[in-house]
Amino acid sequence: MNSDVIITVKDLVKTYNGHTAVDGVSFEIKRGEILGLLGPNGAGKSTIISILCCLLEPTRGRVLIDGFDIHDDSTQIKKVIGVVPQEISLYPTLTARENLVFYGRIYGLSGRALKTRVETLLDMVGLTERGNDLLEGFSGGMKRRINIAAALLHEPRILFLDEPSTGVDPQSRRRIYDTIQDLNRRGMTVLLTTHQMEDAEKLCHRIAIMDKGKMIALDTLGGLLKMVGESDMIHIAAPEILPGPVEAIQNLPIVQKVSLDRGNMTIQLVRGRESLAGIIELLISSGTRVESIRITEPDLETLFLHLTGTKLRG
Ligand SMILES: Nc1ncnc2c1ncn2[C@@H]1O[C@H](COP(=O)(O)OP(=O)(O)OP(=O)(O)O)[C@@H](O)[C@H]1O
Ligand SMILES: [Mg+2]
Repeated sequence: MNSDVIITVKDLVKTYNGHTAVDGVSFEIKRGEILGLLGPNGAGKSTIISILCCLLEPTRGRVLIDGFDIHDDSTQIKKVIGVVPQEISLYPTLTARENLVFYGRIYGLSGRALKTRVETLLDMVGLTERGNDLLEGFSGGMKRRINIAAALLHEPRILFLDEPSTGVDPQSRRRIYDTIQDLNRRGMTVLLTTHQMEDAEKLCHRIAIMDKGKMIALDTLGGLLKMVGESDMIHIAAPEILPGPVEAIQNLPIVQKVSLDRGNMTIQLVRGRESLAGIIELLISSGTRVESIRITEPDLETLFLHLTGTKLRG
């Protein structure tokens, strides 16, 4: 096995009563990498995480985690992985500190070592001040941050996060991003699932796109966006668009296509942002009254549409 690779998944299949939730998925995660599984509801993301965490038996396929096989060495694997499940698994009537102490004891920690670890983790997720408050009074984002802390008590080398930003306010989301990036800088390998493009774009070194149980693409953000091509779109609304400026824009070397639909002009071009000023100037100098301008660049949503013909957000 290549020592740069910490997780190997080969031909993974999971069927639930005849329904295939994971359909022949293979991928590798490199040591120190943040890999994101991006896909819509029901794509099979949580099923993959559950199998990798040794919580669910696969129907077929092979998974190696840090050299251990999920079939034979689940006890060893559980020592090196931390898991933040999609559903919050904390006790509402205990305080944040008490919850962490409870989970720490499960991992065999006690005494000063446990106390120090709990304080370090409360600080890491930015909730030291709220440590003595009951969980039931916490926001979704704060609960998620405590759930992340709970997964780190035994100092795992690999962290699995299932939908870390679902139901999370923007402030907690930023804090969660910071925590994940900070852990990763200190060597943590991370596998997360999400159906939010922002998580994938901002956090992940590589992104795997999932749909209907299959992994349909896996690459860096840059690599994935190349699959949709390099074109940007400038959308211009104006009450009257004359043939003169349209022709002038059409003749610009960076412009690939101009389409007109009544008062709307769409320009397909490369490096739209850089050329925007020139195009506006051309329109204004020809007397066109521009009402609005919008620029769209290729993103993961465009890619998903390109690959599957359906939208990522249902
Ligand atoms: N315990 C189960 N029994 C039967 N079917 C299941 C079970 N768990 C998941 N499934 C089905 O497997 C498919 C994949 O589910 P999974 O939860 O892995 O998707 P997901 O990508 O995590 O979706 P979400 O974004 O909604 O969390 C779905 O069709 C789901 O209905
Ligand atoms: Mg899920």
